[in-house]
Amino acid sequence: MFNKFLYLYLLCVLGGCLLAGCRHRDPPLSARVELGQRLFFSTILSDQHTISCASCHNPKWAFADTTALPNGVRGLPTLRNAPGLFNLNRRAPYLSEGGVRTLEELIVAPLHDSLEMGSNLGHVVRRLWQDTLWLRLWLSTWDTLPSPYTFTTSLADFLRSLKSESSRADRFYRGNTAILTAQEREGAWLFTRPRLGCTRCHFGPDLTDNQFHNVGIAPKSADQGRFRLTGNASDKGKFKTPTLRNLRFTAPYMHDGSLKTLDEVFDHYASPSHPISPNDEIRQPVPLSPSEKRKIKAFLLALSDSDFVQRSVRLLSEK
Ligand code: HEC
Ligand code: HEC
Repeated sequence: MFNKFLYLYLLCVLGGCLLAGCRHRDPPLSARVELGQRLFFSTILSDQHTISCASCHNPKWAFADTTALPNGVRGLPTLRNAPGLFNLNRRAPYLSEGGVRTLEELIVAPLHDSLEMGSNLGHVVRRLWQDTLWLRLWLSTWDTLPSPYTFTTSLADFLRSLKSESSRADRFYRGNTAILTAQEREGAWLFTRPRLGCTRCHFGPDLTDNQFHNVGIAPKSADQGRFRLTGNASDKGKFKTPTLRNLRFTAPYMHDGSLKTLDEVFDHYASPSHPISPNDEIRQPVPLSPSEKRKIKAFLLALSDSDFVQRSVRLLSEK
């Protein structure tokens, strides 16, 4: 008799499930972003609880870092400079060689890298299970226990929420023509001159083609860039074109942080030190007069979004 009821009950549950759709529903985006934000600032992600994502991606610097190669969990420097994090939905494929297609996958990279957080996904998820505070947060957000899926989704949703689109230059292009100074406007005009060729690679809303180029930084480091991923000799020394937004906050520049100022970047383009690849790279040095440098610098700095940085710094107090 009891068994009959039990079977009936299970049948009803199964039937209900099939009708309602047994799939677990994701919580609203805002709740996932909030949880992702907490994870981003938490040291629970790193081996020995020493560093968080924000140790290398500081909200004060548009989520970049001010040292050329930041130190990871064991106090050793990373292989590359930490880039700013914003408008990431437009930046795939990720990392300097472009080996990662989605932000969900990307999260595994710093987590597992022994020079970064030196941990692993399974270990972090287990830790979250064992911590009553996180467990409570998880249940109230996801209505389920921490898992690799809910962990990577929350963090990736937080990363996607970082949008920087309110620099003075943005407002200029939206029609507020008085917001830029004459020098900044002249810099914007100069920047797009074919003679300089900057917009061959730096164009679009974030001033990047999201492609890979050799602009001559490679010989200074052993890092072979995209070659690491593809194994094609023609990819040696190619790195992803970075965005030129928020340069006021993200120095030092280039994949290895080897150039400290924008003037150093201009000087580099004026005398590129690379064995120039025969493909599409900087074939001719691009000398700029002092006045041209000042104007282009003024324009590039006007692409820095202090509202975004202020909003980001406020996240720190909410973490
Ligand atoms: C020890 C320093 C360090 C820590 C900690 C760290 N990162 Fe990074 N991050 C870097 C460096 C260096 C790069 C550039 C790597 C490259 O280009 O190959 C990077 C790149 C990225 C990128 C790629 C951006 C792009 O435009 O391609 C994202 C996104 C990112 N990190 C998110 C995170 C998240 C999320 C965490 C925490 C789970 C984290 N990072 C922890 C140093 C760090
Ligand atoms: C052939 C493509 C190409 C052209 C042309 C080009 N760039 Fe770049 N730019 C890149 C790449 C790729 C990098 C990153 C190189 C690296 O990380 O080693 C870069 C980096 C930069 C950076 C540093 C950004 C950062 O956050 O590290 C600045 C500033 C910059 N370029 C400005 C310019 C200016 C100004 C011009 C014109 C004089 C120009 N670029 C022409 C591809 C190009």
